[in-house]
Amino acid sequence: MKEYRIAVIGGDGVGPEVVAAGMGVLEVAASGFRLNWEHLPWGSDYYQAHGVMMPADGLAVLEGFDAIYLGAVGRPDVPDHLTLWGLLLPIRQRFDLYLNVRPVRLLPGVLSPLRDRGPADIDMVVIRENSEGEYAGVGGRAHAGHAAEVGIQVDVFTRTGVERVARYAFELARSRRRKLASITKSNASPHHFVMWDEIVEQVHRDYPDVHLDRILVDAAAAYMISAPDRFDVVVASNLFGDILTDIGAVIQGGMGMAASANITPDRSKPGMFEPVHGSAPDIAGTGRANPIGAVWAGAMMLDHLCESAASRAVLKAMAEVLATTRIRTPDLGGTATTSEVGQELERAVRTASTPG
Ligand code: NAD
Ligand code: IPM
Ligand code: MN
Repeated sequence: MKEYRIAVIGGDGVGPEVVAAGMGVLEVAASGFRLNWEHLPWGSDYYQAHGVMMPADGLAVLEGFDAIYLGAVGRPDVPDHLTLWGLLLPIRQRFDLYLNVRPVRLLPGVLSPLRDRGPADIDMVVIRENSEGEYAGVGGRAHAGHAAEVGIQVDVFTRTGVERVARYAFELARSRRRKLASITKSNASPHHFVMWDEIVEQVHRDYPDVHLDRILVDAAAAYMISAPDRFDVVVASNLFGDILTDIGAVIQGGMGMAASANITPDRSKPGMFEPVHGSAPDIAGTGRANPIGAVWAGAMMLDHLCESAASRAVLKAMAEVLATTRIRTPDLGGTATTSEVGQELERAVRTASTPG
């Protein structure tokens, strides 16, 4: 039987709660293969104890896995830039997981805050550049605390970086509705975003069957709300993709609904699969966290492992439970806990896979 080694980093806050629910669902969906989970106790507790978010050989350890299933990172009592640059961002960048694939889809049975919008209107995939741009980590500070203090953060965009993410987005657009929106702010940033626009136009020549829209990020943020049906595949820089996918999460029902896959298409390094939301310290430990984003991310992980039947079974169970029951967490208007939703999803996967 095929076996996969999955590194589980529950992390902080609601992270371990939603990941536990997700693991339960994936376990039931795993038929014909086995998922061997290994828990890595990395995150802010580890930081408090050891002064680092993960051990020095952490990336080397992760490299031996087939995939990484991550909850969330960040705790109010530890500076965010230390925790995120100590764990999440190095995994994305050192493994060159340059694609952050974030589906934004309103599922039947879920009410969008855009009350006059239904599932047909909200169905897009945001391809977020995940290795460079505004997250390159280049910069510094000088004259700390003095009147002359300076803080510099440099965006780094490379031709290779833009071209590869654009190419993936065009390919995906070709497999969907042949519509791609490229998001920049090239009116105000005349260097890297004008370069981005030019490179996207050049890649477009290889995909003349795909309609390309160039939309400035401020307008795109507004259209996500006023006209979400404009979008099918969206390609954006690291920061713009980050911001737009929080809007995306909310219009698809809430922060707890959204999933993401950090991948490199050549699969040379393990992909990392996580909900879009953070550690939600305001609801951690209350059982109120919606596990759907984590479950959905788990389905994306199965798909990336080429276990597409199991992946589809998870997605189908998710859609069925939301469409036909009221079992859901408070953010979706329900009263169920994180683990109750997980158990209902497990039941739905089991029922679907029982013959007859
Ligand atoms: P957040 O996503 O954690 O929370 C924003 C709001 O969404 C909160 O009201 C929260 O209760 C709600 N929410 C989030 N997940 C939910 C879920 N599963 N079910 C129901 N409601 C949910 O964003 P934040 O408050 O800006 O960040 C909190 C911490 O998480 C910070 O330390 C931040 O840096 C970190 N963070 C980590 C990741 C990650 O690890 N990938 C992502 C985003 C934020
Ligand atoms: C996300 C998160 C991270 C990001 C933070 C926590 C660094 O917001 O995955 O969306 O900005 O990429
Ligand atoms: Mn984010």
